[in-house]
This record gives sequence, C-alpha cells and structure tokens, in this order.
Amino acid sequence: MITLSAQLRDRLAQPLKIGQFEVKSRVLQAPLSGVTDLVFRRLVRRFAPDSMMYTEMVNATGLHYVKELPKIMEVDDNERPISIQLFDCRPDFLAEAAQMAVEEGADTIDINMGCPVNKITKNGGGSSLLRQPEVAEAIVRAVVESVKVPVTVKTRIGWNDNEINILDFARRMEAAGAQMITVHGRTRAQGYNGPAKWEWIARVKEILSIPVIANGDIFSVEAAVNCLEFTGADGVMCSRGTMGYPFLVGEIDHFLKTGEKKPAPSPIARLQCAREHLWMLYEYKGDRGVRQARKHMTWYSKGFPNAAELRGKLSVIENVHQGMEYIDAAIAELMALGEANLTTDAEPMEPVLV
Ligand SMILES: Cc1cc2nc3c(=O)[nH]c(=O)nc-3n(C[C@H](O)[C@H](O)[C@H](O)COP(=O)(O)O)c2cc1C
Repeated sequence: MITLSAQLRDRLAQPLKIGQFEVKSRVLQAPLSGVTDLVFRRLVRRFAPDSMMYTEMVNATGLHYVKELPKIMEVDDNERPISIQLFDCRPDFLAEAAQMAVEEGADTIDINMGCPVNKITKNGGGSSLLRQPEVAEAIVRAVVESVKVPVTVKTRIGWNDNEINILDFARRMEAAGAQMITVHGRTRAQGYNGPAKWEWIARVKEILSIPVIANGDIFSVEAAVNCLEFTGADGVMCSRGTMGYPFLVGEIDHFLKTGEKKPAPSPIARLQCAREHLWMLYEYKGDRGVRQARKHMTWYSKGFPNAAELRGKLSVIENVHQGMEYIDAAIAELMALGEANLTTDAEPMEPVLV
C-alpha cells in the first residue's frame, strides 16, 4: 500500500506555476509522437481534467515552408491547459512556429531538446541540442521574444554517459528565459533502455528556480510518488505508461490530491475505452486513423484471458467495423466469464520499444 506523506501533499498543494500560467495539477501528459493527438488527449483529459497535455512534436521548418497547420498541431477549442511542442534547430523558424502555435491556442510553447531519433538529431534538432548549448540558448531567447506565453524545454540528461551535461544545460535554459524544464532521466544513447536516472533530476531541482518536471519510468501511482519524493521535482510527466492506459495521469493526480488510490479499471472498462478510442480516431482521421489505431488497440489488449489472441487480430484490422467486432466479441467473452473471475490489475506496463 502506498501512502501520501503530509510533507509531499503540502509541497504539491499549490498550483504549478509556469511563469504567469497556473496549472491545477502536478501530473503532466507527455508529448508522444504518433500517440498524443487530439483524440488521445480527449481521453486522457476525461480522467485528468486539470492536467497539462502536450501535442506531438511539430517540425518548425515544415511549418515555415508550408505555412499550413498540420493535423498534429490542432487543439480543441476549449482544450486547456495545452502546450504545443516544437522541434528544430533554427531560432527564427522556431520563433515563427511559436506564433502559429499561440494562434492555435497554446497556453505554453515547449521546445523538444530530447528526441533521440537520428532523422531529427542529424538535422540539429532534439537531443543534439544538448551538444550545442549555445544554439539551444539562442532558440529559447528567440521564442521567448516572439510570444507572450511561457516557453518551456523538455530534454534529457546528456548525450551519453560520458557527456552528462544537464546541470550546465538546465542553468543555461533558465538564464535564456525558459519558464519550466522537463528532464527525462536518460541519455540520448540510452534511448528508452535501462532505468531513468532520477538522481540527475534531483540535482537539477537543487540548482534551478523555475519548476522542474521529472520524466522517465512513471508507470504507476507508486512510481510517481517515489519519484516526487526522491527528486523533489515540482511535478511528474507520464509517457509510455499512458500508451493503452489513458487513465494513468488521472489516477496519479487523484492520488496526489486526495491520498486515495482509485481502483484500476477492469479489463472490460479498458476495452470499452479502446473501442471508443478506435471510433474517435476513425471519425477524426478516417481510414488513416484506423491504421494508426492498430498499435493503440494492441496496447489496450493486456491482462485478461485471450488478450494475446485479440492483440494479434487488432494489429491488422482493415477497417473500423472489423475492429469494433473483435473488441465487442472480447467484451462479450469477458462478461460471460464474469468480472469476479478476471484480474482487475493491469499487467505491469512494460516499456514499449519504438
Ligand atoms: C512513441 C514515443 C513517442 C515520443 N514522442 C515524443 C515527442 O514527440 N516529444 C518528446 O518530447 N518526447 C517524446 N517521447 C519521449 C517521452 O515523452 C518520454 O520522455 C520518454 O518516453 C521517457 O518517459 P517514460 O520512461 O515514462 O516512457 C516519445 C516517446 C515514445 C515512446
């Protein structure tokens, strides 16, 4: 059983202040490329109405040349609080993109300085900015100058074990005008492997005045509480733990506010959520949405009898109706078994390799 210490509760009772902007939750939904579109965020928001959400990362160079809002940058009219995340290495393009993001409704602009993917780093974006701190500073300064909303940075602890420079880097980001920093406790070389090194996040928290958000390995309420206790961070950001489990941010937020742990959703409730997710993606993006839904559907299909078989079927669905049929049949099968005979705990969320 996990308990919320009075100390932690008091420490986190105030809203999270990102510059002038206040957020009534200390739990954030991470930006996840290919995952956190408007549909996914609607589901997360249902369980975590106060939490900050992030769009998928948007390429500022693309925006500069196309000048048209990509679908990944769309936010709902009343979607609050919301941050639009941008990536690039050109301060001028990022400043321009930030203005478009504010017009679209962004409450804050987040700059991606942590993406490890070659395609991004070889063009000077994402985590390669850890190796070019002067460029990163210039980016933050340019974006801060171009918009009135707070500008934040999400990064890693360094390029590899021999180049862990997060302390110097974080100081520079703060001095350049960043109003919050999220630290993913892994190096670029680690990708998503090995445990996140929360000790570095604790050290960043010690030296900065702006809020520090801890990221990496937050797969449960317990992990969130341990991380907050260990790092002293101002909040936690959930990432892979939300894939196929849009309940996580709300569960942690609820616990931090009340000290009560919500019962985990039953397998049937999770499949009903999957069904809705599939339908919403179809409505929003048509058949492309259904193809994108395949991976989501497989992530939901865990922790109940015959889940592996369902995963196999859902990973290749051809259209929305086929997907609905498979899910409905699985729900009927679980109902016939009776909720009482089912495990209600989700399987431990294992890191998903991408
Ligand atoms: C599929 C996937 C997509 C991601 N996309 C983004 C992104 O667009 N922007 C970003 O800053 N981080 C992105 N990340 C990194 C996560 O936000 C997070 O920093 C990382 O997964 C570590 O947290 P975790 O150990 O809890 O998963 C992505 C990670 C995954 C697995």
